[in-house]
Amino acid sequence: MLLPRASAIIAAAGSGRRFVHASGAGGGPPKVLADLAGRPVLAHVLEAFARVAAVAEIVVAVPEGRLAWAHEALAGPWRDGCRLMFVAGGTERTDSVARALEATDRSTELVAIHDGARPLIRPAVIEEALRTAVECGAAVVGRPVDHTVKAVAEDGRVIETVPRRALWLAQTPQVFRREILSQAYARRKDVVGRVTDDSQLVEALGQTVRMVRGDTANLKITTPEDLRACEALLAAGWPFEP
Ligand code: C5P
Repeated sequence: MLLPRASAIIAAAGSGRRFVHASGAGGGPPKVLADLAGRPVLAHVLEAFARVAAVAEIVVAVPEGRLAWAHEALAGPWRDGCRLMFVAGGTERTDSVARALEATDRSTELVAIHDGARPLIRPAVIEEALRTAVECGAAVVGRPVDHTVKAVAEDGRVIETVPRRALWLAQTPQVFRREILSQAYARRKDVVGRVTDDSQLVEALGQTVRMVRGDTANLKITTPEDLRACEALLAAGWPFEP
């Protein structure tokens, strides 16, 4: 299938409070700027997206105070013909994505949104998500839950064991046809409760979203242990492709 042109949005404007806190007093750099195998976490993400020929541009939302750093450290070029832009993110993740969406080129048909904190994404998985979004409008990369799941009360008491058969963990990228994502973001204030991914906004429109099986290695770096795990995977030769 010949894929239409896509914009990639990288959400990398979080404060990374849990990461900084866990890495000790004063903390290190924000997690997306932390060193992973000799370059910033974000550089791994940019490389993976630039490897996908359909990706015509990458718009990265970074914390306001890191714009100059990002321009300098990540300027690329990552691939000829692939535009790279940095925008200042907002308070919530959806604010950051909304600002990046505003900055995208309206002529691309697909928009892929990815967490800047997931550096081990494989280009083949991005392509599969793009293909699925062409077919059904919205695609989310994820993994079936393979642990036993318990619902737990605030005092630690187990309420029940939740059947895991239909449960998946959502990751990113999440890919949408542009008109669907724009509509979802235009109505985002109507969604009640905390919005933790973009698919949630699209689901609220009643739009079908299809899961795409990704890798367990597509970890989201939340704590320094996650960063160490990514380092170990890279040292062991990730991606383990034939
Ligand atoms: O906080 P959490 O780990 O769920 O964030 C997921 C991704 O969203 C991270 O890559 C983070 O940098 C990004 N984010 C953002 N703007 C915010 C909050 C989070 O771009 N205001």
